[in-house]
Amino acid sequence: MINVKITGTGSYVPEKILTNFDLEKFLDTSDEWITSRTGIRTRHVAAEHEVTSDLAAEASRRALSMAGVQAEEIDMIIVGTITGDYPWPATACVVQHKLGIQNCAAFDVSAACSGFVYALDIAVSRIRSGAGSKALVIGAEVLTRAVDWEDRNTCVLFGDGAGAVVLEACNEDKGILSTHLHADGSYAELLYQPGFGSRNPASEEGLKARLPYLKMQGNEVFKIAVRSLTEVAFEALEANGMTAKDVNLFIPHQANQRILDATAKRIGLSDEQVYVNVDRFGNTSGASIPIALDEANRLGRIQPGDIVLLDAFGGGLTWGAALIRW
Ligand code: ACO
Repeated sequence: MINVKITGTGSYVPEKILTNFDLEKFLDTSDEWITSRTGIRTRHVAAEHEVTSDLAAEASRRALSMAGVQAEEIDMIIVGTITGDYPWPATACVVQHKLGIQNCAAFDVSAACSGFVYALDIAVSRIRSGAGSKALVIGAEVLTRAVDWEDRNTCVLFGDGAGAVVLEACNEDKGILSTHLHADGSYAELLYQPGFGSRNPASEEGLKARLPYLKMQGNEVFKIAVRSLTEVAFEALEANGMTAKDVNLFIPHQANQRILDATAKRIGLSDEQVYVNVDRFGNTSGASIPIALDEANRLGRIQPGDIVLLDAFGGGLTWGAALIRW
């Protein structure tokens, strides 16, 4: 069987930082509430001129540079995003153009915060099938334009950013060991953007009802998130005959410190095994795992041969895991 390994990682977050104290100035909230309930202290916000494809393209350039791969060698670009440049065409197509790549497959995956793991699964399968040998897999979001800045229940949680990896076919005994994807659409309305799609097409009334903004039932999502993240992490470990002790680094979707703590505890992971950056970036949805992966990689927290467990959960509801031998 062809193996598929990550040969480069990259990430990009916009320069502007919004602190909890900045939020206190225009919202009925406090740094104390946000840090104690979520662990989030700051998040990055895209500049007016920046769009999702800009963040994605910059993260990709950094990943390509680390991999030593030229843009034109890429056979496919898959972007996990729910805040693309447009409802359509795919942000992956815009990224392709920005990177100067011609005529490779380019499409987006809509799996919210699980988008990167879903995109990774598809890219690995396509490479294994022989459909190409080099892929760019990206998670990129500008969520600060999809949240309702008058809704303190949600807007304090999210931030902007992008992360990317270069995947390459290899014959070595390393790479993506397995991926595991799940979804339960009966929970679609626990975490969603009600407008403006075919159910609620664009209208002035819809705008007044704030339909184009993210809505979430936080308490419900919290419980299902911990359960699903735990179950799929065990599924990935068991599929490879491993236990929590074998994991060198656990990189969960960075939703909320309390979700990360509860999940890690249930899986049986120590603090040292868990990578956390939600305090600095907030929840960047599909971008959170590849940003964390790139940070950890560049900090030397991942060494050749290490076992890395990616664990995602998000709107859909969707969840998934990927186990990697680095
Ligand atoms: N500042 C101050 N008070 C607030 C804020 C805020 N920003 N937001 C809510 N409150 C208030 C509420 O109005 C409520 O007040 P009330 O009791 O007077 O009605 C009180 O705080 C408690 O609200 P809860 O919703 O019960 O607070 P909870 O402890 O559940 O924390 C939170 C809310 C942080 C959203 C939590 O439910 C959570 O983390 N859920 C998971 C959310 C998440 O991470 N989702 C993303 C995962 S999937 C994805 O990434 C897309």
